[in-house]
Amino acid sequence: MKRTTIAVMNTKGGVGKSTLVLALAETLTAIFNKTVLVIDSDAQASVSAMLMTSMRLHKLQSDATTIVDLLAASVLQQQKLEWQKFVIGGSSDIDDAQGLFLIPSDMQLTLFEREVSKESRHAALRATIKMLLDGVKPGYDYVFIDCPPGLSVLTEAWLREADFHISPTKPDYISVCGLEVFRRFKALNPEMGFAENLGVVVNLMDPNGAQDRDYDSWLRDRADNRCFTQPIHRSMALQHVTQFSPEGRSWLSKYPGAVGASIKAIALEVMDRVAAANAADADRAPDGEKETSAAAS
Ligand SMILES: Nc1ncnc2c1ncn2[C@@H]1O[C@H](COP(=O)(O)OP(=O)(O)OP(=O)(O)O)[C@@H](O)[C@H]1O
Ligand SMILES: [Mg+2]
Repeated sequence: MKRTTIAVMNTKGGVGKSTLVLALAETLTAIFNKTVLVIDSDAQASVSAMLMTSMRLHKLQSDATTIVDLLAASVLQQQKLEWQKFVIGGSSDIDDAQGLFLIPSDMQLTLFEREVSKESRHAALRATIKMLLDGVKPGYDYVFIDCPPGLSVLTEAWLREADFHISPTKPDYISVCGLEVFRRFKALNPEMGFAENLGVVVNLMDPNGAQDRDYDSWLRDRADNRCFTQPIHRSMALQHVTQFSPEGRSWLSKYPGAVGASIKAIALEVMDRVAAANAADADRAPDGEKETSAAAS
């Protein structure tokens, strides 16, 4: 199966994980005509709130149709995984983002994670995450998982089962340290598998700040960071994309000028890197499997 699932993760908070998930999902659907599923795995439900009105989100949460209900049914109540019931369309305030789908989140996610730990259901959680990703993969060109900061049991399950991870990072000391912690975490229990690093996105960059430029170079000098070529500058426009607009708007008005150009460049690089990884997989596959995977893609 083609590798297309991407956890967006950094142990550090406030580096633009949810904003990047939103911007990539909207750009891949509206500009590149792809289908994208966003899985909100943060109890704060940030990306869910960026994609709909709070009334609609409240209704979904009250109707028990969020990631919490999906996971609790499978992991704690051992029911069949019926993920289709939890995917909603028609989110996003962008007119031509019909290809964007979402599994929203809820504050109760924290309580769910406590139950998983209390009842030692870690293996069941990981099995459910694997089943969920295997289930959704054929239906979407890309699947993005918006992870909270830190390394919770749920985040670990995504990182072990997803195909790739992307880490948005601020060009500052604490964010560089956050990446280092993540790198060490990745090296633990290698037998359990881990997502491949698709790359680090340098976000919230002040192009005129000497210190930002130093940290940007520091990040880029480490080849295993695989920094995306295009940094994202700090801008009012990107700060505003997180505010859902009930009136609707065009992609161009939401991502104007230089912001739009940088998000488009990163979306293109994501597509290229995912395609290159899958092409490398196909090259490594034995001949019999090559034919099967060519037919499947
Ligand atoms: N390039 C940018 N320019 C200006 N503001 C930005 C940019 N990127 C993100 N922001 C703002 O920074 C704040 C944090 O962004 P976001 O919520 O995406 O970070 P996060 O890493 O998901 O945070 P958390 O760790 O809490 O989940 C938000 O107010 C967002 O609007
Ligand atoms: Mg977030």
